[in-house]
Amino acid sequence: MPSLPEHGANPKLLYRRLGMEEPEEVLDFSENVNPLGIPESVRKAWPGLIRLLPHYPEPDGEPFRSDAARFHGVPSEMVMVGNGAAELFSVIADRYRGKRALLIHPTFSEYKATLLAKGALCVDLTVDPSDAALPVGRIKQAMEDADVIYLCNPNNPTGERIPEEKMLELAGHGRGCGCELVIDEAFMDFAGEAHSFVPHLAEHPHVAVMRSMTKMYAIPGIRLGYMVASPQRIKEHRKAAPHWNVNGIAAQIGSLCLQEAEFRERSVLYSRTVREELTAFLVAAGCTVTNSETNYVSFRPPADPAGLYESLLRQGIVLRHSENFLGMDGQWFRVGMKEEWKMDRLKEALARWFEETSPS
Ligand SMILES: Cc1ncc(COP(=O)(O)O)c(C=O)c1O
Repeated sequence: MPSLPEHGANPKLLYRRLGMEEPEEVLDFSENVNPLGIPESVRKAWPGLIRLLPHYPEPDGEPFRSDAARFHGVPSEMVMVGNGAAELFSVIADRYRGKRALLIHPTFSEYKATLLAKGALCVDLTVDPSDAALPVGRIKQAMEDADVIYLCNPNNPTGERIPEEKMLELAGHGRGCGCELVIDEAFMDFAGEAHSFVPHLAEHPHVAVMRSMTKMYAIPGIRLGYMVASPQRIKEHRKAAPHWNVNGIAAQIGSLCLQEAEFRERSVLYSRTVREELTAFLVAAGCTVTNSETNYVSFRPPADPAGLYESLLRQGIVLRHSENFLGMDGQWFRVGMKEEWKMDRLKEALARWFEETSPS
C-alpha cells in the first residue's frame, strides 16, 4: 500500500495518496473529536471574541490557566497552557534529549515523533491490542532501563483505560527506579474525571499529566491543551515555549468550555451509547473489538482488512487505518463515534461487506 497519512481527519490527502477519486460525499470516521460538536456557549460567544484580536494575549494563557487549575483543584503554578497538547509534547520531549523513553504500543504516534525530533532514544514495547490486560510486569521491567515512560490513558487507538491501581503501581515503581511518567489524558473526559491521575501528582512529582481541550469540546481548530505537573517542572517547561504561545481567543474559549458540565455528561452518554451499539454489531459479525471507554473504538475484521478498507473508501466511508500503529499493522481500524445517521450508514456498509465476504 502507498504511504498513508500519519494521522486521521485528512480524507482529501488519503484519497490523493491512494490515487482514488474522492466521492462527492465523504463520512470521516477516522477523526475522533466529540460528535456533538462545539458547546453552545462557545457558539454564542464567538462573534464577540473579535474584540480580542487587536491585543496581545496574556502570556500565561489566562484566564484559562487559572480555570483549568480550579477545575482540577490544584494551584495554577502546576498548570502550563499550550497551543494544543501537541505543542506541550514537543516542549516536554526536550527534557529527554539523549535519554531513553519507553513507549507502549499501539499508541499515539506524536510521542515518538516529538521525542525523536529532540534526540531522545525511543524503546518500543508492543502489547497485543486484543488482550485487554496490560502486562504490568513486563512494563515495570522495561521501566528499569528507561528515563521516562509515556502512557496514553485512555489509550489512542484502543480507547482502553489503565485502571487507577495499575497507574499507581507504575508510578510507584517509576519513583523507585528513576523513571519519570508522562501520562496523556487527552480522552479522559470521556472515561470520567474520577480516573484522572491529577489528584495523585502531589505525591508523585516525577509524573506529568497532559490534557487536550480538542477532543471533548470539538475545538481542534483553535489549538488548546495544558500540562499539570509540579510547580518546579512547570517553571522549567514554561521557559521552553514561545512567549504568547496560546492565543487570546483560545484562552477565553477554554474557560467557557470548562464550565460545560451538562455538555460533558451528555457527550459521555451519547458516545457510550453509540459505541456500545457499534461494538455489539461488530462482535456479532465476528470482529475483535477493543474495550473502549472513549468516543472511538478499534476493531479487527475476521478477514481481508485491506479489502474492507478499500471497499468502504469507494463508498465514501473513511476509517482510521492502523498502518502506523505498531502492533496493529494495518489489521485493525479505529472508528470515531458520529451522529446516528452516519453510524447507521457505516453499519449498513459493513453489513454488506461481511455478507459478501463471509464463507458460506
Ligand atoms: C492521544 C492524543 N493526545 C494528544 C493529542 C493532541 O491533542 P491537541 O489537539 O490538543 O494537540 C491527540 C490528537 O489526536 C491524541 O489523539
